[in-house]
Amino acid sequence: MKAIEIRNKYLNFFKSHGHKVIPSAPLIPENDPSVLFTTAGMQPLVPYLLGEKHPEGTRLTDYQKCIRTNDIDEVGDNRHLTYFEMLGNWSLGDYFKEEAIAMSYEFLTKELGIDPEKLSVTCFAGDEDAPRDTVAAEAWKKAGIPEERIYFYGKDNNWWIAGEEGPCGPDTEMFLDTGRPTCSPNCGPDCDCGKYVEIWNNVFMEFYKAKDGSISKLKQQNVDTGLGLERMAMLLQGKETPFDIELFLPVMEKLKELAKVDYIESRRIVAEHLRSSMMIIADGGRPSNIDRGYVLRRLIRRMTRHLNKLQIDLNELPTLIELYVETLKELYPDLAEKKETIKEVIVAEKDKFVKTLANGEREFNKVVSKLKQENKKVVDGHTIFKLYETYGFPPEVTQDLAKEQGFEIEMTEFDKLFKEHQEKSRQGSEQKFKGGLAEQNEQTTKYHTATHLLNAALKVVISQDIHQKGSNITTERMRFDFSCDHKLTDEEKQKVEDLVNEWIKQDLPVTIKTMKKEDAVSSGAECMFIEKYPDEVTVYTIGEVSKEICGGPHVTHTAELGHFTIKKEEASSAGVRRIKAVLS
Ligand code: SER
Repeated sequence: MKAIEIRNKYLNFFKSHGHKVIPSAPLIPENDPSVLFTTAGMQPLVPYLLGEKHPEGTRLTDYQKCIRTNDIDEVGDNRHLTYFEMLGNWSLGDYFKEEAIAMSYEFLTKELGIDPEKLSVTCFAGDEDAPRDTVAAEAWKKAGIPEERIYFYGKDNNWWIAGEEGPCGPDTEMFLDTGRPTCSPNCGPDCDCGKYVEIWNNVFMEFYKAKDGSISKLKQQNVDTGLGLERMAMLLQGKETPFDIELFLPVMEKLKELAKVDYIESRRIVAEHLRSSMMIIADGGRPSNIDRGYVLRRLIRRMTRHLNKLQIDLNELPTLIELYVETLKELYPDLAEKKETIKEVIVAEKDKFVKTLANGEREFNKVVSKLKQENKKVVDGHTIFKLYETYGFPPEVTQDLAKEQGFEIEMTEFDKLFKEHQEKSRQGSEQKFKGGLAEQNEQTTKYHTATHLLNAALKVVISQDIHQKGSNITTERMRFDFSCDHKLTDEEKQKVEDLVNEWIKQDLPVTIKTMKKEDAVSSGAECMFIEKYPDEVTVYTIGEVSKEICGGPHVTHTAELGHFTIKKEEASSAGVRRIKAVLS
């Protein structure tokens, strides 16, 4: 059964059981800066699990696009994915254990045609927070699962919560027996030898775990279920890995055709990371140096490295993207509309990385030959940090390269140095903050960031030759002087204002990096009086739109700025214009 058929069957089945089909939320959570990506179908539904009324009622079903990155380094084996689709159904204080279990059993055995003999289930064994889940076990027996295939486990296996805090509860999980022999007398669904594969999870969310660890009852008893689409398709199609199903196969085959040397792990990594990157970009994600932007950057970098390893011409990327748009068109028709943006973002990021790679790999190889001479087997944290700081070589790439050459790596020291480095740049900017700018507060910080955006917008709208000549910020307004040979027209002013507001709306991340002054300048960072800066400078980057040497401080995301309005444009001195603007 193809993935699209499984999805349709699922949604139709729950629709026929009184559920409303709701759309997938975007991969990038709306109004929730606390998580990087949507990781489960329940995530966008948290307010409703806590008791708020959902406009579509108390029975919902959907397919949810998800990204989970904890296992990013495992991708390449025969099962891990960073992007996957989760099918789910929810009861918001409506049905509970018995009905949820009866529906799950019916869907698996009748709709998907899974042999009931191959099903095993697990239930919560009970502890001080909740009793042994005999209700779930009885419901399974009633549905048709014999007692010997009902297992009880503790919180490690049968309790579900997203992160540290939030709605949670005992769960019951369904497993498919692959028919392989047991690996030991204790082998059961909790064993990861591969005999049992988890296919579905029903969480009985009736508790709330607070930050302090305490557990209380929710207002209502909810059900939250999740079934991984790719895995189910793989099992129903009798395939060994998700890369053998129709969603990956065309790209896997194409990679094989293009590769001059074949490594199956590398093909999987490329196929997996390319699909994830495309899905993130389609939902508005862009590469950057922090948070979700950095995850995307890592995915694209790792993919690029493995394309190199396969000796595939990187100019094939647009072809591979086209092929995915075609392959995934039934599941994600919107990829077609967004494919040009997807190509642009991926190709631009790849180009950036190619430069970094060339320098870093040369240095890495030097390190490796030295280690080999000394008969050492571990790349130490200092070396990883030096490669990062001096050559901008990402630690995860050093890690990958080291692994490939049979070396271990020592990250503890790297983590320590990295923290110190971050702290140093933070202190640096705080000091400059105290020294350079009087009357600092939240408002002036916003104006400071707005100044960078205005500077960048003037370059785009009027001319790349525009440069900052001065600025002055108070809590009420900003003033910005810049070189320009004419009075701005109303149309130009409007365009500049609109562009700044557009960038604010895009909520671009503002990132900071400490670097050598020459490196900053050669990387294209803008600055007013180069000779005035120390040898080591901080560079602020706003999304892809602005890069300036600056002491800060700045907001972390442009959406914090609110709305930008130009109040006045006038002459300041010969060849210098002045803009006064406010944020509201
Ligand atoms: N939230 C649960 C999970 O992610 C069930 O959907 O497994």
